[in-house]
Amino acid sequence: MIISLISQKGGVGKSALARLLAVEIAKSGWTVKIADLDPAQGTSTKWKGRRDQAVLQPDIAVEKFRTVERALKEADRYDLLILDGPAHAERGGRDMAAASDLVLLPTGYSLDDMEPQIEAAYELEDGGVAPDRLLFVFCRAKGSDAEDRVARAYLKKARMTVLTPVFPELASIRQAHAEGRAASEVPFSKVQDKVVAVVQAIVDRAGAMAEVT
Ligand SMILES: Nc1ncnc2c1ncn2[C@@H]1O[C@H](COP(=O)(O)OP(=O)(O)O)[C@@H](O)[C@H]1O
Ligand SMILES: [Mg+2]
Repeated sequence: MIISLISQKGGVGKSALARLLAVEIAKSGWTVKIADLDPAQGTSTKWKGRRDQAVLQPDIAVEKFRTVERALKEADRYDLLILDGPAHAERGGRDMAAASDLVLLPTGYSLDDMEPQIEAAYELEDGGVAPDRLLFVFCRAKGSDAEDRVARAYLKKARMTVLTPVFPELASIRQAHAEGRAASEVPFSKVQDKVVAVVQAIVDRAGAMAEVT
C-alpha cells in the first residue's frame, strides 16, 4: 500500500502525520517505510535520527529520495510506503498521487491554508487522480467547534472529502516530536486516543481504496 502526503504550503503537518501513521501501522505488525521526499528540510530523516538515538520501538525505516520514481522502487519491499512530500510538489505531487492508494492533503482551518490545498487537489484531479483517493485532514488544528464546522462546510462546497477526526496541535506533541516520538507516543492517554482515531480513520479509507485498485 502507498499513502502520500501532499501540500502547497510548508509546515502544515505532513511529516507529523507521516510519522504518526508509520508508528501506529508498524505497531499493528506491518512493515513500513517513510520516503522523505523533502531533502531540503529532511524533517523525517532527522526525526529518525532522534528516534534511533532514543532507541524507540517500533523501528521505522526512513530514507531520503531525490525523486519520486526512486522512492517508488521501495513499494514492493514494504507493506506500507509513506511518501512524505515537499511543499510546492507540483510535478512530483502528480507522480506521488498517481502511484498512491490514498493521497492525504493536510490543512489548517484558515482560508489561507485551505485555498492552496483545494487548488492542489483540483490540479491532481486534472492530472487524472481519482477524486475519491484525495482526503483532506485537519492538521495542527486548534480552534472552536464553530471554526471546525465552517472549515468543513467550505471544503464540502469545494467537493472535497474531509476526515472526521482532527489531528490537534498540542505542546505535548511538539515535545514528542523533539524526542523522536510520534504524536501517539505522548504520555497522555486522551491525546493518544485522539491521534489514534486519526490513524484508524485513514487506515479504513486506505483499505477501502486499496480494494478497488
Ligand atoms: N499536531 C501537532 N502538534 C504540535 N506540533 C506539531 C503538530 N504537527 C506538526 N507540528 C509541528 O509543526 C511544525 C511543522 O510540521 P511538519 O509536520 O514538519 O510540517 P510539513 O511536513 O507539512 O512541513 C513542526 O515543528 C512540527 O513538529
Ligand atoms: Mg515535512
